[in-house]
Amino acid sequence: MIFIAGASGFIGGHLVDHLLRRGEKIRALVRSAGADERFTRSGIQTVVGDITQPETLKGVLSPDDLVIHLVGIIEEKGPATFQQVHVRGTTNLVAEAKQAGVRHFFYQSALGADLNSWSGYLRTKAEAEEAVKAGGLSHTIFRPSLIIGPWDGFTKKILDMLKISPVLPVPGDGKARFQPVYVKDWLRCIQAVIESPGAYRGTFDIGGPEHLTYQEIVEMLAQVSGHTRMSVNIPMGLMRFAARAAGLLPTPPVTLDQLRLLEQDNITAPDAVRRSFGFDPLPLRDALKEFLA
Ligand SMILES: NC(=O)c1ccc[n+]([C@@H]2O[C@H](COP(=O)([O-])OP(=O)(O)OC[C@H]3O[C@@H](n4cnc5c(N)ncnc54)[C@H](OP(=O)(O)O)[C@@H]3O)[C@@H](O)[C@H]2O)c1
Repeated sequence: MIFIAGASGFIGGHLVDHLLRRGEKIRALVRSAGADERFTRSGIQTVVGDITQPETLKGVLSPDDLVIHLVGIIEEKGPATFQQVHVRGTTNLVAEAKQAGVRHFFYQSALGADLNSWSGYLRTKAEAEEAVKAGGLSHTIFRPSLIIGPWDGFTKKILDMLKISPVLPVPGDGKARFQPVYVKDWLRCIQAVIESPGAYRGTFDIGGPEHLTYQEIVEMLAQVSGHTRMSVNIPMGLMRFAARAAGLLPTPPVTLDQLRLLEQDNITAPDAVRRSFGFDPLPLRDALKEFLA
C-alpha cells in the first residue's frame, strides 16, 4: 500500500492520478472533509489527520506501507509556520512511521535545502531532512527545483498576471538561475523509487536539463502561452516595498522571503536526473508546449 501525505496538493494530485492509472492501492492523509469525499469517490482510502497534530496520526500506518510525504508550505500563515509544518510535522510522521515499521519513507524536500540558509523555507526543509535521516528508516529524499505542470502555482500566477498586465514585470534583474522540471518527469523519478525503494536510498537532486534565468523562464512562459509582452525589470527595492504593503493582506501575492529567493541561484547539475534515474527530462519549452496546449 502507498500512503500519501499531501495528496490534495499540486504534486500529490498528479501522483494520485498516476498511481490510480497504474492500479496501485493508495491511502491518503487528508485534512478536510471535501478532500475526503473527492478521494473516496475515486476508491482511495482516506484518513483524516494533520501532521502537526501527532494524536491524529496514531495508528494510521502499517508495516506494508511505503510512505510518500509531500506536505509542505511556501508561506507561513498563523500557526502553520515552517517550523511547525516542515520540522515538527515531519518529526511526527517519522515517529509514527517508525512505530509502525513501514517499509520505506519518501520525503520531498527542496533544492537548496540548507541548515544554514537565511530562508526559513530552505532551512526547515533541511531540518526536516535531518529528522527523516535520524528516524533510521529506509528512506529517499528528493530535492526538486521548481516543478511545473498543469495547475502548478508558479505558472498560474504568471499566467493570471499576463492576462491583465500590458507588460511582463520581472522583479530585480531577473538573472538568478533556476532549473524547472516537468511534473511528468518528477513522476518518472518517484515511480522508480516506488518500484525499487532499496535502489534509491539517500538524497537526490531533481532538476530539468537547463539552467535558466528567472527572466528567461517567465519570457518563455509568456511566449508559449501566446502572451508575448515586453519585460520590464522592477527594482528590488520597489518590489520589497510593495511586498511589505501586501503583507498586510490576508493572502499576500508574494512575501519578502519569496522575493529574496528570486535573487539567488537554485540549481544543480543539468544531468542530475539522467545520472540518478537514467533518462533526460524535458526542456522547459517542450514541457510548456505540452501542458499549456
Ligand atoms: N511545487 C514545486 O515547485 C516544489 C518544488 C520543490 C519542492 N516542493 C515541495 O513539494 C511538496 C508538494 O508541493 P506542492 O506544490 O504540491 O504543494 P501544495 O500544492 O501546496 O500542497 C501541499 C499539500 O500539503 C498538505 N498540507 C499542508 N499542511 C498540512 C498539514 N499540517 N497536515 C497535513 N497536510 C498538510 C496540503 O493539504 P490541504 O489541501 O489540506 O491544504 C496539500 O495537500 C512540498 O513539500 C513542497 O515544499 C514543491
